[in-house]
Amino acid sequence: MKRTSILLSLLVLLLGQTALSLATPMSNQPDSVYLFSYSTTKNSNTNGLHFAWSIDQKSWNPIGPEFRFLFCDYGRWGAEKRMITPFLFQNQDGTWHCIWSLNEKDGAFAHAESKDLVYWKPQSYPIVMTNKNCLEPEVSYNAADQQYKISWFSVAGGTSQAYYTTTKDFKNYIPAKEMPLTDRLNLRKKVVISGNTETGTVHKVSWELVEELIKTQQLAVYKNQLWAENAKTDSVRFAGLQPIDATITIDNSKSKKISDLLVGVFFEDINYAADGGLYAELLQNRDFEYALSDKEGKDKSWNSQKVWHLKDGKGSFTIDTVSPVHPNNPHYAILKTDEVGSGLINEGFDGIAVKSGEKYNFSIFARNPNQKNKKLVIRLTGKNGEVYGETSVVVHSPKWEKIEAVLTVSQSATDAQLEIIPQATGTVALDVISLFPQKTFKDHKNGLRTDLAQTIADIHPRFIRFPGGCVTHGDGLENIYRWKNTIGPIESRKPQRNLWGYHQTTGLGYFEYFQFCDDIGAEPLPVIAAGVPCQNSATGGAGQQGGVPMCDMGSYIQDILDLIEWANGDVKTKWGKLRAEAGHPKPFNLKYVGIGNEDLITDIFEERFTMIFNAVKEKHPEITVIGTVGPSFEGPDYVEGWKIATKLGVPMVDEHYYQSPGWFIHNQDYYDKYDRSKPKVYLGEYASHLPGRPTNIETALSDALYLTALERNGDVVSMASYAPLLAKEGHTQWNPDLIYFSNAEVKPTVDYFVQKLYGQNSGDSYITSNVKLSDNKESIRKRIAVSVVRDSKSNDLIVKMVNILPIAVNTKLKLEGIDAIMPSAIRTVLTGTPDDNKARPVTGNIAVSNNFSCSLPAYSFTVIRIKQERATR
Ligand code: AHR
Repeated sequence: MKRTSILLSLLVLLLGQTALSLATPMSNQPDSVYLFSYSTTKNSNTNGLHFAWSIDQKSWNPIGPEFRFLFCDYGRWGAEKRMITPFLFQNQDGTWHCIWSLNEKDGAFAHAESKDLVYWKPQSYPIVMTNKNCLEPEVSYNAADQQYKISWFSVAGGTSQAYYTTTKDFKNYIPAKEMPLTDRLNLRKKVVISGNTETGTVHKVSWELVEELIKTQQLAVYKNQLWAENAKTDSVRFAGLQPIDATITIDNSKSKKISDLLVGVFFEDINYAADGGLYAELLQNRDFEYALSDKEGKDKSWNSQKVWHLKDGKGSFTIDTVSPVHPNNPHYAILKTDEVGSGLINEGFDGIAVKSGEKYNFSIFARNPNQKNKKLVIRLTGKNGEVYGETSVVVHSPKWEKIEAVLTVSQSATDAQLEIIPQATGTVALDVISLFPQKTFKDHKNGLRTDLAQTIADIHPRFIRFPGGCVTHGDGLENIYRWKNTIGPIESRKPQRNLWGYHQTTGLGYFEYFQFCDDIGAEPLPVIAAGVPCQNSATGGAGQQGGVPMCDMGSYIQDILDLIEWANGDVKTKWGKLRAEAGHPKPFNLKYVGIGNEDLITDIFEERFTMIFNAVKEKHPEITVIGTVGPSFEGPDYVEGWKIATKLGVPMVDEHYYQSPGWFIHNQDYYDKYDRSKPKVYLGEYASHLPGRPTNIETALSDALYLTALERNGDVVSMASYAPLLAKEGHTQWNPDLIYFSNAEVKPTVDYFVQKLYGQNSGDSYITSNVKLSDNKESIRKRIAVSVVRDSKSNDLIVKMVNILPIAVNTKLKLEGIDAIMPSAIRTVLTGTPDDNKARPVTGNIAVSNNFSCSLPAYSFTVIRIKQERATR
């Protein structure tokens, strides 16, 4: 509320005449008017709830026009979030209820309530019909029995039937009953707004209420203008601007402890980040488990045979499921050879990248029904028949056996393929066919791609969040990521559909995630679904309809407790033993567990989250549970998520927001006013998004600017991770990402270097600095940011300065209460034009003292790392 009133005052000041006319005395204004609420059919009904007002019900004034006061959050991202025929109703205590139809097929309607028509509580979507739709719902209140009656009609086979249900609380409903169509209230009216006829409900309301709606809309317009500011208009905004002088006084006597975990990474299997990415497996669909359902049937070629083909089209290649290697991996290949020389080819993930002189581990599960030894030649070949490497294996047994061999590559290539060529005619069954470089990150078996893993490690992330994002809570209950399916021998892991539209082998599973954390000294941060699927689920009745059934919550919670035992338990414990057998007898020292991922904060969520939180707290008080507060920096999920977390005493919450550079520039104070007694914050997903979603100096500098604010608030913001982390060229579902890659190359973005500079120059105490500018205009002040931290391990003082202006800033730095400074410090500068996507940081030395100068180039991020001879205070 405070934030809104500050912005409102600002609005009044800045909008001048327009705003002042809003604030004029009411004497010339009507004190009650008609309010019309409606939605339009534009963008397939996804534009939400609009209002218009009138004093005579003849001439209507749209607010906005068509400003969205309420947005439907049902179903999958985009086209499913429809609001059709909204019906607004005010009850006796003044609470507004809005109900609407969701689509033409589902037997559910939507409900939301509000006290002021501006802040709407989380929505619910009660299912009232099976196999029938629910159209034009309307609501009335019966004061005598204190209940609401909701009626609608269903259309099936050309006939309409009206139904109703009743509720006292919009949570519990009686089963739907038929009613005569003539009993419907039919209170919707048609009015003409800006020449268009719209249908909705009319209410007599106070002018004050309408005035608040108008102010809300105007404030939103004002904020959007600020947040849309970007460097393209800097030449106008800063025309004639002269270089700025800045005096930065760093006062060592004013310092506070901040989190030493601030910079980490967010790993999600999106954009082929895992299979075909960080996971070093070179063969695609190695277990023949690709399924039409991975792509919801939209790609008929996406099946068990995907990326495999017969050499020269000879012989036959079929799929069988009788007596598989493991029930979790039911499909396998039957290769029939009629002519020696033919065989099966795997195309890899857009080809296989191999390096001359390097060794590759090949393994295969095979069985030979003929009981005769069968030799298979294994070759890495080029498109023109070049042989890059060759080996062979012999299949002895009519039972499944794992056979291994090593290939040494004689020539580097980026588009090799793997051939399996039986040396005799007949059939052979094959499964889990794998090819790994021997050189994986830290040489682990089933390990990670070295170049990608090293690029991540170079950030010096203090934590790694995994396995997502939306992948964590999945598209529908069946798609929730279950950690137990991702450990153990690869042939026994349970692959699954990836909600980003492909397949996850789970070869990169919990053991590999924890091992990577261990390898690079990052805290593991697994995030587990809060017993509810993704808020944007489409599978299983729009996902949000249900959580894990209560009868299964006990075992669901036990899985989470088992994870903690698996990670931290002694080797004698059931789950600790499994970890040890997998190769890590030492505990992984798990300290943090995230529960939920930007879920809709519904009753279904709250009930399950509370159960999980209480169980973990009771059994493992040493674990810091991180709750979730929705996908935005504001709104009902944010507000209600925070309420729940505060009520339960959840130690930390996970916030997400992807915003424009303008938002980051104008919201640097976002955490300055956070209540330090409430839960700490993990900013789990953030990134600066420009139209068209590029990454460049402009996005990188707005990240860098905002990170100065996060460091300043490092006493309440404990962790932060840019998202998403990885994207394979040609397979991205989301832009921008921090690191792009192909099979052979890693292509970090400019934003990556900001993360790396922060990760490598983090501190654990924050030192207050004061910035005095020669030009103190707000537009200038907000584009220069400074943060000073000390790293207690090295005792280095680290000064970070961001300049998002088109001119240089000449700074004088005064260091107070800091002595014995080494005369030369390391300075790193990242700079370029705003649209530069190739800029790289340049590091050199700078002479420093207690009073030294440093120029900050136009559009730049400067880090100065100052060494001290001995500890100061
Ligand atoms: O980072 C990409 C996606 O953004 C995440 O999966 C989800 O949590 C968020 O909506």
